[in-house]
Amino acid sequence: MKINQNYRNLRESYLFSEIARKVAAFAAKHPEREILKMGIGDVTLPLAPAVVAAMEEAAREQGDKETFRGYGPEQGYPFLREAIRDYYKTFGVFLDADEIFVSDGAKSDLGNILDVFDADNTVLIPDPVYPVYVDTNLMAGRKIVFAAANEQNGFLPMPDERVGADIIYICSPNNPTGAAYSVEQLRAWVEYANERGAVILYDAAYESFVSEEGLARSIYEVEGARECAVEFCSFSKTAGFTGTRCGYTVVPFALVREGASLHKMWLRRQTTKFNGVGYIVQRGAAAALSAEGRAQIGRNVSVYRANARKICEALDGTGIGYTGGKNSPYIWLKCPKDLDSFAFFDHLLERTGVVGTPGGGFGKNGEGYFRLTAFADGETVEKACKKLRELFGQSIERGRRCI
Ligand code: MLT
Repeated sequence: MKINQNYRNLRESYLFSEIARKVAAFAAKHPEREILKMGIGDVTLPLAPAVVAAMEEAAREQGDKETFRGYGPEQGYPFLREAIRDYYKTFGVFLDADEIFVSDGAKSDLGNILDVFDADNTVLIPDPVYPVYVDTNLMAGRKIVFAAANEQNGFLPMPDERVGADIIYICSPNNPTGAAYSVEQLRAWVEYANERGAVILYDAAYESFVSEEGLARSIYEVEGARECAVEFCSFSKTAGFTGTRCGYTVVPFALVREGASLHKMWLRRQTTKFNGVGYIVQRGAAAALSAEGRAQIGRNVSVYRANARKICEALDGTGIGYTGGKNSPYIWLKCPKDLDSFAFFDHLLERTGVVGTPGGGFGKNGEGYFRLTAFADGETVEKACKKLRELFGQSIERGRRCI
């Protein structure tokens, strides 16, 4: 018996598990202290009424012999794939419903997609980044090169002709920095990928937070992207499905490498290893995309956007540099006094009870930065903003300092 030795190259634990453990230890030591959780990007508003009603109805169907359903199609029921196809039309992207695969979330598929690629590929990953891209490739022993995302490039690295890459990860709006690519900037990535026969894995989990004109909601807004990109998205952040679990992956028919259709390979993978998302959950997801559902989930996104604005305003008054928050639920701030991000995590928790995520957990370039999420509930955000003002207000020169 031999274990997968690549696991030895992973950090001791997954970033958000490590943060949860630190917070639990602090809470056990200081039971009297209020903890203001703005660390993991988990939603706090409940499911929309249209979603709940559809799931209740579906649960009743499952309890009736006449309407009961067993195994569904592994790639999702047509009613949901068609609803997702129609959602894409609202931002000018025209897909075939069969190009859409329903899943239990973007995180799973971002890891699972690697099944269709050889271990002997070079992977290009931005740094800082959502840790799942790095960890899943380390598990498979793939060679990773990093694209530096920093203040100089507005946290949006562009292709470098000198760097050879076979698989390229892009997350926009970005987790953790909140930076978002324009359609024009993505065009450069699509050209780079098509020129070298690479594949882009595009994580669009935060697309519903895009508010500025010209920024991309989907990589398929760029011509040529169907020939080189797989897109991952999720109902988690848009419709509050973090605990309900539903997402989708688009693998275009036109994506062919070494004469093989990646769409066919992914279908083969899914039909073998996955039995689909529960019927009840899929009915809920489809309801989130109905006209009524879209209006309801849109209101929730507006609440998170307002939270993000409040956090930005609180920071404006302190002189702490930050980015994000405009097209993203994440605010990416500079640790004061050049503090190490994990030291700042401890300092902030100790002094204010506010929990964020240390930038160093997202990669080398994240060191010296810190992420706050706007998914916290309104009251937590108000209290945290007050504490941030109190903590930073005294020690730091006042005035707006966007990074
Ligand atoms: C985050 O905080 O980065 C996200 O919640 C993680 C995730 O979506 O898996």
